Amino acid sequence: MKPIEIKPGIYWVGVNDQTTDLFEGLWPIKETGVSYNSYLIMDEKKAIIDLIKPIKTEEYLLGLASLVSLEEIDYIIVNHLEPDHAGLLMTFSRLAPQAKFIGSAKAVEMLPRFLKVKETARLEAVSDGEILNLGQKKLQFFSTPFVHWPETMMTYEPETKVLFSCDAFGGYGAIQGRIFDDEVQALEFYEEEALRYYVNIVANYSQRVIAAIAKLRDVPVEIIAPSHGLIWRKNPRRIIELYQKWAQYASGPVEKGITLVYGSMYGFTESMVGAVARGVARTGLGCHIFDGARTNVSYILPSLWTMEGVIIGAPTYEVKLFPPLAAVLEMARHKRVFGRKAAYFGTYGWSGGGLKDFLRLAESLRWNVTHTFEIQGMPGPEELSRAEKWGEEFASSLLKP
Ligand code: FEO
Repeated sequence: MKPIEIKPGIYWVGVNDQTTDLFEGLWPIKETGVSYNSYLIMDEKKAIIDLIKPIKTEEYLLGLASLVSLEEIDYIIVNHLEPDHAGLLMTFSRLAPQAKFIGSAKAVEMLPRFLKVKETARLEAVSDGEILNLGQKKLQFFSTPFVHWPETMMTYEPETKVLFSCDAFGGYGAIQGRIFDDEVQALEFYEEEALRYYVNIVANYSQRVIAAIAKLRDVPVEIIAPSHGLIWRKNPRRIIELYQKWAQYASGPVEKGITLVYGSMYGFTESMVGAVARGVARTGLGCHIFDGARTNVSYILPSLWTMEGVIIGAPTYEVKLFPPLAAVLEMARHKRVFGRKAAYFGTYGWSGGGLKDFLRLAESLRWNVTHTFEIQGMPGPEELSRAEKWGEEFASSLLKP
C-alpha cells in the first residue's frame, strides 16, 4: 500500500504481512495477516518511527522514497527492538547515513549485541519524558518497559496528539485497504484479533500494561498509532479501554462463561462433549468449545483468558493426560491464566491416570477444580445422562454469587 497521511506531515508507511505463517514463529497469522506499521514525520527534521520486519523491504523503501530521500532522514525512533520493528536497522544504517537511532537507555545498551549495530556513535538514548524538536513538531518519549520488552517506549507528538504506541494497542489482522477504525466495516474482526494478539503476545506483562495506561492517563491523545493493526482516530479510547480490561483479567474478575477444551482418540470422550455442553446450555451460561488437538492454542487462549470457568475433557494416554491437552494447559500456565474454576471429564482404557495428571497441572495453574467425572471405555446412555447433569451442575456452580 502507498503511504497514507494520518495527520498533516505524518504518514503511515507500513506494510502488510500475509505470507508469514507464524508470528514470532509461534502464533498462526496465515488467515488474518498482520501489519507492520511504520511512520514518517516530515518537518525541518525528518524522523521514521519504527521500521518493519525485513519482508517487503522493496515496497517499504519505495513508499518512503515517494516522500523523502533516505539520505535526509535525521532520526529513526526505535520504540522496540523486536525484529518485526527493528529488523531493518542495519540496512538503514547504510541507507540513511545521517540518521541517529533514538531509543531508551536499555535499547541503546542492547542494540550493539542484539542487532549487531556497530556504529555506537549513532545511538542516542532518551530518557522518560524527554522531548526531541523536529521543527514545528516535537517528539516526546515515554518509557513503558515490558510492553512488550524491557527497552520498550512509546513516542508522542504533542501538536497533533498522536501516540505511537508500538506493540501496545496493536492487534493481528492485515490492513485491508482501510487503515482507520472509522473506515472499517467489521470492527469486531480487528477487536477479536487484538484480543488474540494481546493474549498471545502481551498478556504476561499485564501489570506493565496497566502501569503504562495509568502513566499516560493525562496525555491528550487524538490518534493511537500502534505498530500492528488499525489506527484508532475516531475512538482512541476504545482500544485503550479494551487493553485495560484485558490486562485487569490477569489478576481480577473475569467474565462469566466456560471454555471447554477437549481431545479424543476414538470418539469416547468426544461423545461426552455434547452431553456436557447440553447440561451447560441448560443454565444459560455461554460456552466456547475447542478441539484442543486440532485448534492452535493461539485461538483457545483468548477464551481461557476471559472466561471464569474451564472444562477439560480428555482421555488418559499412557497413564497421563492426553498430550495435546497437557500442551494447552502448559501454554495456559506460561501465559499465567491463573485462578479459574475448573472441571474435568474423561475416559480411560485400563488404568486411568489422566485425571491425576490433570489435577497436577491444574494445581500449577492455581485452578480450583470442583467437578471431576471419569469413566472406563465407551460412555453408554446412562453415563451420557450423568455427563449432562454433571455439566449443568458445574455451570450452575459458576452462576452462584
Ligand atoms: Fe511487534 Fe514485540 O514486537
